[in-house]
Amino acid sequence: MSSRPRRRFDDDVEPIPRRRARSTRLTAERDDALDTLSTYRHPDTMRGPEPVPRWVPTSADAHDEDLGVIKTGKEADVSLVRRAGVHLAAKRYRDTQHRMFHRDAGYLEGRRTRFTRENRAMATRTVFGRQLIAGQWAAAEFAVLSRLWSAGAAVPYPVQLLGTELMMELIGDADGTPAPRLAQLRPDPREAAGLYRQLRAVLVHLAEAGYTHGDLSAYNVLVQDGRVILIDLPQAVDVVGNPQGFDYLRRDCQNICSWFQARGVEADPGDLDGELRRALV
Ligand SMILES: Nc1ncnc2c1ncn2[C@@H]1O[C@H](COP(=O)(O)OP(=O)(O)OP(=O)(O)O)[C@@H](O)[C@H]1O
Ligand SMILES: [Mg+2]
Repeated sequence: MSSRPRRRFDDDVEPIPRRRARSTRLTAERDDALDTLSTYRHPDTMRGPEPVPRWVPTSADAHDEDLGVIKTGKEADVSLVRRAGVHLAAKRYRDTQHRMFHRDAGYLEGRRTRFTRENRAMATRTVFGRQLIAGQWAAAEFAVLSRLWSAGAAVPYPVQLLGTELMMELIGDADGTPAPRLAQLRPDPREAAGLYRQLRAVLVHLAEAGYTHGDLSAYNVLVQDGRVILIDLPQAVDVVGNPQGFDYLRRDCQNICSWFQARGVEADPGDLDGELRRALV
């Protein structure tokens, strides 16, 4: 029997694929050209859905100026970026050792990539595996935002996806001040009832597209000039396709209704759940 030591997969032992030496002049010139190109035009960038809104800077020389972090989250950092005078929100998914998605467990199950090396790397959280997971979450959020924005739901326009970075519409003022989260507001019961009505309409929109948020709370709803916008959607659940879809739907309804109930709104989770089920495609 072989006495080869077992490899330990809890260490960062997964070999990172080696890049071929970039020695040729042509490659160097190509890289220089890419460095001066707006990331919107980078060949690896996935751009947001058509029709591209007129405010999106699309020119090849529109460069980004990083204006600092808006919020450091558990799984991603969101930064304010200025591109050709337009403010954008850059959500950068983290791939550090300590970033352990509370949402990874059930959600990644159904979407393993075909290659076992990649599956193993993700399961054991090697450096390579963590990069893959972070990239998958960014891609998942980009895809959901693209779909929901195209369906007319109140979500930020997804401008582009490049690796683990998702660039989207900044919900906020033209001067770059981000909108507050619902959780930060102190609405009186009448204002709260208006916000609940709006949020209900947004959730119906999601259900009509087949989704529930999957992590709905007053922290993942922004309010810009009295208008409700839903954010933080990487784990959005396909209600009918996911075996626990209806449980996620019920949980979303319960979470958001208890927030509104505490602010004097008659928000009945069973009633909301029923309306959303009827709206499902
Ligand atoms: N498009 C946006 N426009 C303005 N602010 C945004 C935008 N997207 C995110 N933010 C801000 O960044 C915060 C974190 O974003 P998000 O909830 O998407 O990330 P997260 O890593 O899941 O954070 P958390 O762990 O706090 O839920 C939001 O609560 C909001 O304040
Ligand atoms: Mg969040």
